[in-house]
Amino acid sequence: MISLLIHSFLFFVWCLSAFHMYLLYGLTKYAKPEAGSPKKPVSVHILVLGDIGRSPRMTYHALSIAKHGGKVNLIGYLETSPHPDVVNNPNITLTALPAPPRRPPSIPFILFAPWKVLHQFYHVFNILGRTLPPAEWILVQNPPTIPTLAIASWISTYRNSTFIIDWHNYGWTILAGTRGANHPLVALSKLYECHYARLGHLNLTVTHAMARQLRLPPYSTRGAMVVLHDRPAAIFQPITSPAIRKETLTRVLPPAEQDLIPTILSGDTRLIVSSTSWTPDEDFSLLLDALVEYANPPPTDTTARTPLLVLITGQGPQKDHYLAQIAHLTATGQLPGIRIATAFLPFADYAGLLACADLGVCLHRSSSGVDLPMKVVDMFGAGLPVVAYSRYQSFRELVKQRVNGRGFKTAGELAGVLVELLGGCRGQLERLREGALKEGERRWDEQWDEKLAELMRLVT
Ligand SMILES: *[C@@H]1O[C@H](CO)[C@@H](O)[C@H](O)[C@H]1NC(C)=O
Ligand SMILES: *[C@@H]1O[C@H](CO)[C@@H](O)[C@H](O)[C@H]1NC(C)=O
Ligand SMILES: *[C@@H]1O[C@H](CO)[C@@H](O)[C@H](O)[C@H]1NC(C)=O
Repeated sequence: MISLLIHSFLFFVWCLSAFHMYLLYGLTKYAKPEAGSPKKPVSVHILVLGDIGRSPRMTYHALSIAKHGGKVNLIGYLETSPHPDVVNNPNITLTALPAPPRRPPSIPFILFAPWKVLHQFYHVFNILGRTLPPAEWILVQNPPTIPTLAIASWISTYRNSTFIIDWHNYGWTILAGTRGANHPLVALSKLYECHYARLGHLNLTVTHAMARQLRLPPYSTRGAMVVLHDRPAAIFQPITSPAIRKETLTRVLPPAEQDLIPTILSGDTRLIVSSTSWTPDEDFSLLLDALVEYANPPPTDTTARTPLLVLITGQGPQKDHYLAQIAHLTATGQLPGIRIATAFLPFADYAGLLACADLGVCLHRSSSGVDLPMKVVDMFGAGLPVVAYSRYQSFRELVKQRVNGRGFKTAGELAGVLVELLGGCRGQLERLREGALKEGERRWDEQWDEKLAELMRLVT
């Protein structure tokens, strides 16, 4: 028995050291070009353990670096088509990660998760450590946190790269949201995230609230932090010409809703857009309950109810569940005057839809309380006022109440705001639209150039 234990232990140690040698084998270091030799472009590996096409912020980082002549390797999954400017950019190379294994329903999450992490570890490590040459910078989106932070931190040590963490949110709070706060992996992932968070050489965050929070335990980061708010991409632009609005609506609305175009143009039907990833992160029933309340006023309430077309874009796990609910509400006559349609649109059409709509609705619930929904930023870029779920700390860094949008915390409040904005008096919606247009004028490039170009030695 004892001998077996000793042998297992020795085997374990042997495996560990073999693994360590494997990690170190053949890793070359990044070295500054010798003085006097021709200047090499700044090289950056950008890593996102997600679909590149649905990672707008990392896409914009890549474009900004490339614009200044830096050479970018953008590493991630290729599921949807990436931004066309990235695909056609001579300074950006896309490196695809093999798709992660899918969990068969019969295998419990806690058994499957380690296998998936190992699979991702192997491929990310190989790409960052072997396939690609060493880079001056490694920029990693967090979350996903596991295993990217660990790999990027090791690689940057072994290969002499400078390691940047771009904090969008926290991995462990998202896991707590889907698995429950008491799941054993949540505590583990929190420990891991706090440990590797301290190893970033430079920290970017999406909000001031997040930067403040990262300074406190359990993260306790020190040193300066660069707050880089999300900004709309150039593709999100307002549409002012009625002719272009009509043309765009004809292109982007599902065939079954095209008959509403004349009334949308005249303002007799209001077009509401909500984009969602149909995950538990967003409580979609808030919107459905609010629409039912909007459509069925109590007899004492005589405010006009403008007919609505509600177009919901996006794909995700809970879509079928809510589609069934919508079908039921419609069939039982609980949504008089309201049509709800869903669509999944290419990027350019989605941008066009936002510019044609009257109001955007955002149901994003922040798991950490300090991140911000990118979709609201895009809505502002298209000049679209927003009604957004507001029960989190950083909300005010984006939506200014009664200036460019409104907040709500319950379905009842949302219904009230809809009546107020879409009912008889249209003045308020117009004012919010002006506020949204103004907010949308602030773009990504200016703040990126100001805050990062020099820091990353792209300009001298
Ligand atoms: C590591 O990179 C820095 C620049 O980021 C450079 O000055 C230094 O010489 C490099 N070290 C080695 C061992 O190549
Ligand atoms: C690519 O980099 C070069 C400099 O190396 C720069 O002049 C050019 O504008 C960059 N191209 C794009 C599309 O960003
Ligand atoms: C980023 O955070 C780490 C962890 O505390 C810290 O050591 C480092 O100094 C920070 N870097 C900057 C530039 O703020």
